Amino acid sequence: METEEMYQKLKTMLADVVPDVELRYKAELAVEINRLKKERNAVILGHNYMEPVLYHSVTDIQGDSLELSRKAAETDKDVIVFCGVKFMAETAKILNPTKTVLIPSMAGCSLAASITAADVRALKARYPGVPVVTYVNTYADVKAESDICCTSGNARAVVESLESDTIIFLPDEYLARNVARETGKHIIFPSLDKSASPNESELDIQMIGWKGRCEVHEKFTVEDIRSVREQFPDVYILAHPECSPEVVAASDYSGSTTAMIRAVQATHAPRYLLLTECSMGDNITAANPEKNMLRLCSVRCPHMNQITMENTRDSLKFNRFVVEVPEEIRVRAVSAVQRMLRIG
Ligand code: 13P
Ligand code: SF4
Repeated sequence: METEEMYQKLKTMLADVVPDVELRYKAELAVEINRLKKERNAVILGHNYMEPVLYHSVTDIQGDSLELSRKAAETDKDVIVFCGVKFMAETAKILNPTKTVLIPSMAGCSLAASITAADVRALKARYPGVPVVTYVNTYADVKAESDICCTSGNARAVVESLESDTIIFLPDEYLARNVARETGKHIIFPSLDKSASPNESELDIQMIGWKGRCEVHEKFTVEDIRSVREQFPDVYILAHPECSPEVVAASDYSGSTTAMIRAVQATHAPRYLLLTECSMGDNITAANPEKNMLRLCSVRCPHMNQITMENTRDSLKFNRFVVEVPEEIRVRAVSAVQRMLRIG
């Protein structure tokens, strides 16, 4: 596709969300990226939080963490460029050890940074024999300490698949509380202080959590919801399960990023509000122009926003940044990821 054709395609989809001057500039970049992608026999995976032009012009596969893990496992291309954050690109490498996995910028995540492999080993020592579920928003060495991974799209199914009265669920406090509420389990957040002995409330525990938080979703409040509903009583509100249980309870729907997209497409509300990274609202509007999306863009993910058209082009051009996972960690992490993928 040549630049003018790309510009026209982007204009048709994005004229209402992206200024024309930006569309012209990015159309040129998109053509260059797609040419490099072909030359290198690469596939570009894009998380739903990618900015709208990148998302609609150069990504071959879009989705939430679960869908992107599945597609990464199936690709026959030589190079995978992961437009998302580092833990997601690591999952692609864990599943494709012989392929080159590139990430345009080594973007972090507050959840992945909240826990180390040593923390998981300490929890396992304190609760011997209790199975460990880790959210995919963790680094490879943490996954390697786990029995099974989960995403926001399958957390409940993963928990219910384990035939154990008690589970360790790491590291997102709010996702854990939301899953505990859905499955009717009693959850605790223990101190790892060696001198502390289990107290009475720990005797009937069914879930053991960790106090990691997503720096984006933890900021949405019940007060935000009250204020938006007051202004727009007919609004349909969707919250990601990394939001607090109070925010999820005050919303109309909760699910993974792709589940939220499907819920918007499947309902007919006069307007919608997404309690998640703001770019996703732009992406939904572009694909569904008849949907009226309210914007709550004061909270952005600084990590997802590190990925740009420019560094995606440079990633293919200069083969950077190469994602590596040491083999002794990868072989342990892959069984936790594959066990999750088998659950569906
Ligand atoms: P999803 O798996 O729902 O796409 O979530 C990933 C993420 O980082 C949400 O903040
Ligand atoms: Fe991590 Fe939250 Fe950003 Fe997702 S939105 S990458 S969970 S900090």
